[in-house]
Amino acid sequence: MTFPPDFLWGTATSAYQVEGGNKNSDWWTWEQSGRMPCGPDTAAVACDWWRNAERDLDLAAELGTNAHRLSLEWSRIEPEPSVFDDAALGRYREILQHCRAAGLEPMVTLHHFSNPLWLVEKGDFNNDIVVEYFRRYAAKVVDVLGDLVPKWVTINEPITYAVLRYLTGDFPHTKRGFGALNEGIGHLLRCHAAAYQAIKERYPAALVSTADNMQVFEAPPDGNALDRWWARRVSAFYNDAWPAALHTGIFRTPFGRHKIKGLAGTADFSGINYYTRFHVKFPPPKGFVERQWGEGAIVSDGNYGEVYPYGLYRMIKRVLPYGKPIYITENGVPDATDRIRPGFILDHLRQVWQAISFCFPVMGYYHWSLVDNFEWERGWSQRFGLIALDPDTQERTWRPSAYLYREICRSYTVTDDMARRYAPEMLDVMWPGNSPEMVS
Ligand code: FCB
Repeated sequence: MTFPPDFLWGTATSAYQVEGGNKNSDWWTWEQSGRMPCGPDTAAVACDWWRNAERDLDLAAELGTNAHRLSLEWSRIEPEPSVFDDAALGRYREILQHCRAAGLEPMVTLHHFSNPLWLVEKGDFNNDIVVEYFRRYAAKVVDVLGDLVPKWVTINEPITYAVLRYLTGDFPHTKRGFGALNEGIGHLLRCHAAAYQAIKERYPAALVSTADNMQVFEAPPDGNALDRWWARRVSAFYNDAWPAALHTGIFRTPFGRHKIKGLAGTADFSGINYYTRFHVKFPPPKGFVERQWGEGAIVSDGNYGEVYPYGLYRMIKRVLPYGKPIYITENGVPDATDRIRPGFILDHLRQVWQAISFCFPVMGYYHWSLVDNFEWERGWSQRFGLIALDPDTQERTWRPSAYLYREICRSYTVTDDMARRYAPEMLDVMWPGNSPEMVS
């Protein structure tokens, strides 16, 4: 399976999860509050990127990738309202220059789940003032770093972020409930529109969008008509409402229809973060989705989710009507022992390849993640890295998947020979009739 010569092969990370020392962020306070299920796990050092991001960016280059998606920590850049830290911006410049020198095209996210504490005190996404603060933050960042960055993500997974804060309460929050959710999403949309304009005024050729968490929501195999109806509603809200709003300027929710000024036409690409499939039942349980799998499902560590590669193809098809280039801005699996990751990578890339074979404009793939990092409320309990990290010693160890991904990135192909060596269980799935028994 051959990929185009201009395909972007990347890995993805986010600031809070890798940098360490982000004590001005709401996540730091959340960690300290003891309200996270992962107990005393901490991102105090994380992957030590603030001191030495270069070490891992060099590993990304060694992996044969030509792109990397990273994020900036707002609470570092603007530690107090309207006070920008030139040294922090200088450090980000250094990191981005290193990225480019290592042959990695940067894609930069402005907001990836983490807020400055001062903003939280002002009500963050439940207060109108957030829009002007976010616009100024974006403008400042682009003034200083814009010449180094061809692709921007304004906000990572806005709907997931809002749901995990306002509905499930897994993420740091001060308010909960549907009212707060609705208001929060409205402000996230306005923040995106403001940042989009700020970037484009300065760099009209930059590509700007959001990275949207898109998952398959379906009724379980034994589900009834009501479950199927509910699954369609959940999917329309979770997968479609945000990207549609960026194209039309109108956000449709179960609560109504909001027209947002300056929002229409603010997505230059479709960014898909794809992980898994959820089974949905009506009425929804407390966590809103059922964690249950069909017979024979392959389930990743900590019941994170079912491995369902075809879902990636389905999500790619779902964004086709927007007519924009498509980037898989995240895709990965928690798998400390690398038992399923090689097969996961091969089969998800097969879906990407199939999409490209139909001339769907998928331009790049960023694997989540380069090295194990601090997995939000699940701390160090979930390991998404191609490269394993011991957070205490900072020792890095290549998992077999890293070697596999290197072969793929270097050759721009996925082959049956790779499957034979890294994930023989995939031979029959991906190349029926090609398993050792059939060939011999
Ligand atoms: C995504 C997040 C990312 C990481 C992965 C596993 O939803 O964007 O930070 O947590 O999941």
